[in-house]
Amino acid sequence: MSSPEGPRPGLLDQYSQGFMVSQVLFAACELGVFDVLAEAPGPGSDAVAARLGTSSRDEMLLDVCVSQALQMEVRGGKALYDNTELSSTYLVRSHPRSQHNMLLYLARTTYLCWAHLAQAVREGKNQYLTAFGVPSDQLFTAIYRSEGERLMFMRALQDVWSVQGRSVLSAFDLSPFPLICDLGGCSGALAKECVALYPGCRVTVFDIPAVVQTAKRHFLSPEEGRIGFQEGDFFEDPLPEADLYILARVLHDWTDEKCSQLLAKIHQACKPGGGALVIESLLDADGRGPLTTQLYSLNMLVQTEGKERTPAQYRALLAAAGFGDAQCRRTPAGTYGAILARK
Ligand SMILES: C[S@@+](CC[C@H](N)C(=O)[O-])C[C@H]1O[C@@H](n2cnc3c(N)ncnc32)[C@H](O)[C@@H]1O
Repeated sequence: MSSPEGPRPGLLDQYSQGFMVSQVLFAACELGVFDVLAEAPGPGSDAVAARLGTSSRDEMLLDVCVSQALQMEVRGGKALYDNTELSSTYLVRSHPRSQHNMLLYLARTTYLCWAHLAQAVREGKNQYLTAFGVPSDQLFTAIYRSEGERLMFMRALQDVWSVQGRSVLSAFDLSPFPLICDLGGCSGALAKECVALYPGCRVTVFDIPAVVQTAKRHFLSPEEGRIGFQEGDFFEDPLPEADLYILARVLHDWTDEKCSQLLAKIHQACKPGGGALVIESLLDADGRGPLTTQLYSLNMLVQTEGKERTPAQYRALLAAAGFGDAQCRRTPAGTYGAILARK
């Protein structure tokens, strides 16, 4: 219903300048503002600048951060800055729940693809060629276009499971599945949460060779004896034996045709009574929300070949591959939900 005063122009400013808000967070992360404040809380902007090696004009950035993730107190006429609970937990690099790497990835890669959203909509395809000059006919060759980029992507994805991993893995009781294969399991971040939550299980992380080698070099720690890695291409190579196949944020990368191909392969490898667990950000039944998932779906447009889907769309893909009895559970607070289907 329209109001007599007409629409609020401030709202348009808020939407159109929203990218500035993200950039402030990205810059503060990149510069290490939250880390410096965690080491020695309460400095003035001149002391922060000295520790970061930035210009004395850093006060502008710190003051905008105060509206997002810092607190400030004026003492003796001087502004003194500190982290908030939000930044201490999620933005300080050393915190176990830190999202620092995800913010860096969003700043350095995702943001540059989003700069070409209109072109992506026009062409119906991702923007690696426009943004980075790399052809994207082999999706993961474009995503992993350098060793540094692969490491940044793997670290970014890991951050999400450090916060939401337990809740997606406890959406269903997975204890009846002692041998689990995490297909496209990347650094093993979800596998680590899985073995912590289910003491009786072992997990094989299956991913392409370069990712497995990077995971072994940078992510694996000795206490994870119940996690193994296997190199391979899930479209081409035989899949490891397992009671349950996890596909976390894998199907959203691909077209319906490629998803069907992969799910049919999993169904073939699966034992009777075995299962497939799909973990994705789920659209509402009518596909018109939640906004975060709609934005993720646009992100799939600019960065992949896929899209986010509704539970019914995932059920249809699973059913076409032969899986029955698919149940869907959304996690209470998180962005991700889980769909468990049995053979
Ligand atoms: C979007 S990431 C999700 C990673 C992880 N499951 C997570 O939720 O953090 C997709 C994963 O699929 C892997 N992948 C892509 N194509 C693959 C293929 N043909 N065979 C095996 N793994 C593949 C990628 O290397 C990447 O680790």
